[in-house]
Amino acid sequence: MRDCFETRHSDVLGRIGELTVPRADQTVETPALLPVINPNIRTVSPARLEAEFGADALITNAYIIRGTDDLRERALDEGLHEMLGFSGAIVTDSGSFQLAEYGDIDVTTREILSFQREIGSDVATPVDVPTPPDAAREQTEADLATTEQALADAEAVDTGEMLVNAPVQGSTHLDLREAAARHADATDLDVFPVGAVVPLMNDYRYADVVDVLAAAKRGLGADRPVHLFGAGHPMMFALAAAMGADLFDSAAYAIYARDDRYLTVRGTRHLDDLTYLPCECPICTSHTPADLRGAAADERERLLAEHNLHVSFGELRRIKAAIREGNLLELVETRSRAHPAMLDGYRALLDHAAQLERHDPTSKGTFFYCSAESARRPEVVRHHDRLGRLDAPATLLLTEGSSPSGDRFDAAWRLLPPFGPVPRALSETYPFTAELPDRTDRPAQEAAARGVDRLVDANPDTDVTVAHDDWAASALDRLPASVRAEPLGARPDRDDA
Ligand code: GUN
Ligand code: ZN
Repeated sequence: MRDCFETRHSDVLGRIGELTVPRADQTVETPALLPVINPNIRTVSPARLEAEFGADALITNAYIIRGTDDLRERALDEGLHEMLGFSGAIVTDSGSFQLAEYGDIDVTTREILSFQREIGSDVATPVDVPTPPDAAREQTEADLATTEQALADAEAVDTGEMLVNAPVQGSTHLDLREAAARHADATDLDVFPVGAVVPLMNDYRYADVVDVLAAAKRGLGADRPVHLFGAGHPMMFALAAAMGADLFDSAAYAIYARDDRYLTVRGTRHLDDLTYLPCECPICTSHTPADLRGAAADERERLLAEHNLHVSFGELRRIKAAIREGNLLELVETRSRAHPAMLDGYRALLDHAAQLERHDPTSKGTFFYCSAESARRPEVVRHHDRLGRLDAPATLLLTEGSSPSGDRFDAAWRLLPPFGPVPRALSETYPFTAELPDRTDRPAQEAAARGVDRLVDANPDTDVTVAHDDWAASALDRLPASVRAEPLGARPDRDDA
């Protein structure tokens, strides 16, 4: 096992990391997008990807190269980097995708790994078995046994300095995904792709993608680099990055361009439906939709592919900036508004708030409450757990009023939806410096009430008064029976009232 990955900054499960690829003696900053290069069809050349788009890694298919006489000879002769004209890191796939598609391939893990080493791949892939979503449990287990054998074969091959992928399969059986991840983690392989998620993404099943990623992350050490195999739509990069995906590969930029589809971070548009080009890239600032529609087919395909790449790399940079600034969840929240399926994905992410909380930094940029979903963020879960361990005085006022005095009480704490009670000493710390809307919503009030409940549960002898700003009945109902609830208008925090 090599130490090939280091985390520099993190937010939620997302991180800015450094993947070191020994053969090229290079580092790839993650999250990274690896454009897929079909060695037979090149819409945008690898040299241009490197020079103009800033790609420092790409992915291509060793199985196709091996099966195509002239490509095989050139790759063996010149090496992959020379053949493609790319000096960055090159990841190669093994033919597993063809195996899944056609049911059979004529190469073993030992053969394809040796070939990948011979042609100078930086990260090679064994022949894993991509079990599709919703497969029967028995089938999934049988496929996993084959993948485990492939990983064992990969460990036995002399792969030199080359890194090797340990794909994590398991279909939509989350316990099997987690077990597969734990098994992969225990091998001496290097990079951990989560496989067979393309059908989920094609069907907009982003909640299932999140659950599968969460299961894989539970089985993998936090320091393991994770590749979301086949994830190429920029709409979901932020969501997947927040779940801990470090590497993405995009065939979508080229495949979509071929049939006139224009990628945006808010979804896919057909060129025929565009009256404006809603993008700042060089293609979109120098063309109109009519220009693109009027271009020759191969020119149009190239222009759309370039736009698609600009959008995809732009979103990756936005994600990195968000991780640095500690507002990745705000970005995910924005993206979740693009499509109801993305909202499902974000809600699924929040279902894993406790898992996320264990890794989320305890201090970062200002928490922005921008939707009812914010009430379920990991920071809220963390504070509620903390309330369950806090000591409260004998009499306590929890108030939404701006400057609690509370002379009738031993202490007066802020009551801050969605967090709940905030002891004074914490008031100026993250996340309680949050920007919150003046018009608090019901989910925030209900979350705050749950916080009160946690505090009371830990301090059954404390006499608690809640001074709330016109809370909804559903929130008041969540307060423990022992708590006295008074609307702020009654001014229980003012002894002179
Ligand atoms: N490309 C997209 N999905 C997969 C997968 O599950 N395994 C491999 N090897 N390649 C893929
Ligand atoms: Zn554009």
